[in-house]
Amino acid sequence: MRQMGSAPSDIGAIVPSGPLLGRTMATRIDPSNGPVVEIGSGTGALTKHILAAGVASKDLILFEMNRKFCDLLQEKYPNLAIHCRMAQDMEELGIKDLGAIVSGLPLLNMPENVQHSITSAAFKALKPTAPMIQFTYGSKPPIMEQVCSDLGLTWEKSPRVWLNLPPATVYTFRQTNQ
Ligand SMILES: C[S@@+](CC[C@H](N)C(=O)[O-])C[C@H]1O[C@@H](n2cnc3c(N)ncnc32)[C@H](O)[C@@H]1O
Repeated sequence: MRQMGSAPSDIGAIVPSGPLLGRTMATRIDPSNGPVVEIGSGTGALTKHILAAGVASKDLILFEMNRKFCDLLQEKYPNLAIHCRMAQDMEELGIKDLGAIVSGLPLLNMPENVQHSITSAAFKALKPTAPMIQFTYGSKPPIMEQVCSDLGLTWEKSPRVWLNLPPATVYTFRQTNQ
């Protein structure tokens, strides 16, 4: 996961997510609910589990802002739509009616205004009540309380994935009162 030239706060991890964490995230997707966007795909550690969960290649769109990781993703997944852009650009690109968003972004490393703009763009692109699935290494929800309150988000969390390095928890956020 190390990438020279990127700010550590943008990457947020020194090793890619492990297979058990990838599967824990991917099993929270309903592939029949509509297209899926993965934001912060990095080297594609979660991408393969999203595809294995039954999301068709034509229904999976990746956002990754780091050019070197994008080139790598394009080599690994030539059939996927890959935007080498910021997740916040989803709206500008007219992406909507998504069945789920899977996020590998280090949201807790980001200032509140950046976290707010990413989360707000995500929920504009999702169908009503469709989930944003996000992991965290910490003990608190990875979207700040103020942002959850502003956007009307509720969440449920998985059991701790102890076999990941570092151990992680998967949160599933939904917009319930907008
Ligand atoms: C912790 S890595 C996660 C990689 C992989 N999904 C995983 O779980 O191992 C976070 C990735 O998010 C990307 N990133 C950070 N901020 C972003 C943004 N606003 N839009 C798109 N990608 C972003 C970074 O370049 C980095 O590749």
